[in-house]
Amino acid sequence: MQSNITTSPFAAPETILDGSRFVRACLRRPVDRTPVWFLRQAGRYMQEYRDIRKHHTLVEICKQPEIAAEVTITAAEKLGVDAAIIFADLLLPLEPMGLDFEFQAGEGPVVYHPVRTAEDVSKLRTDRAADLAYVAKAIEKVAAHFQDRLGIIGFCGAPFTLASYMIEGGGSKNYIETKKMMYNDPSAWRMLLDKIIVVLTEYCRLQIEAGADVIQIFDSWVGALSLTDYRAYAYEASQRLVHAVQAMGVPVIYFGVETAGLLGEMASTGADVIGLDWRQPLDEGWAAVGHGHAVQGNLDPITLFAPLDVLEQRVQEILRAANGRPGHIFNLGHGIVPGTPVENVQAVVKMVREFKL
Ligand code: CP3
Repeated sequence: MQSNITTSPFAAPETILDGSRFVRACLRRPVDRTPVWFLRQAGRYMQEYRDIRKHHTLVEICKQPEIAAEVTITAAEKLGVDAAIIFADLLLPLEPMGLDFEFQAGEGPVVYHPVRTAEDVSKLRTDRAADLAYVAKAIEKVAAHFQDRLGIIGFCGAPFTLASYMIEGGGSKNYIETKKMMYNDPSAWRMLLDKIIVVLTEYCRLQIEAGADVIQIFDSWVGALSLTDYRAYAYEASQRLVHAVQAMGVPVIYFGVETAGLLGEMASTGADVIGLDWRQPLDEGWAAVGHGHAVQGNLDPITLFAPLDVLEQRVQEILRAANGRPGHIFNLGHGIVPGTPVENVQAVVKMVREFKL
């Protein structure tokens, strides 16, 4: 665990060894080498996780801090990465807000009574974020285990992406119900985002107090929005959440997919780090974000199925595009998928560790 005092952007550490290299990179401070971790680094591609999943549902794992911490630690140690993301799920805050859901095998999440009207929104509760303390307990255990060796990442969904799950009732292709509420009932939409922000701010506070060094905000599906609609319906809510989290003394990573047209706007939320997907070369994405922010990314996760020589070319291309500029965190452009060979993920860690410009 890092003390949040030393990771605060306002307190300058003295040497290159102060703070984990992951947190240093988030703050664009010089590092001895590029830090690396992977989106969905704990998951079904890993045998150890599949073994635990035989005996517990996803939500059971999340709600038992001992098991959630074990899953988090096992994945980070097996890969030799520089950061551990807490094992949890984006949808957990729905339950204390009054929305029950489940993960159906192979189908993704299903929310039983999706939010469709202003009345549905008005019924959502915002006073029970403390019910999510099980995630904080898991973070405490992970922080106690790693001490200062690794950065510990807490996370939550971004207001838009979480709202889309609540409204659609699950994943979506065209976000028709979400956009219908945005366009047709903007006051219900605003009320929904306001309520989500209240709960997520409290949820992030629990995670930070428990030892999260950095918070990643997943706006996974924001790429469904035009720039105009991002500005009109999502930007302000994301910005408020980013600022609320930063005010608690930790850097924020703001991540989305298919966001090439939104990067400048996402950066103006003030997030310390912007996640880049693989559809654009890293240097172009970074230029769009602006060099006053760090970036995280951006290997295509499916490259992990390629032979090692091809994989190495793609890894090196990203590291060369970053060009040693302080503030690059090596990662994928989206999560590791089931079936990914673990040894290829480990090979990428080695490639990043050994890379020299
Ligand atoms: O190491 C890690 O990253 C694991 C922790 C983690 C999970 N979910 C566990 C999980 C994290 C960071 C998440 C975030 C999450 N959850 C996101 C944002 C990340 C992204 O990919 O953009 C989203 C959109 C969700 C919602 C969600 N959870 C979906 C759509 C699904 C089903 C799709 C799938 O991969 O099966 C889940 C299930 C889920 N959450 C799994 C894991 C390991 C796999 C299912 C399982 O174990 O049964």
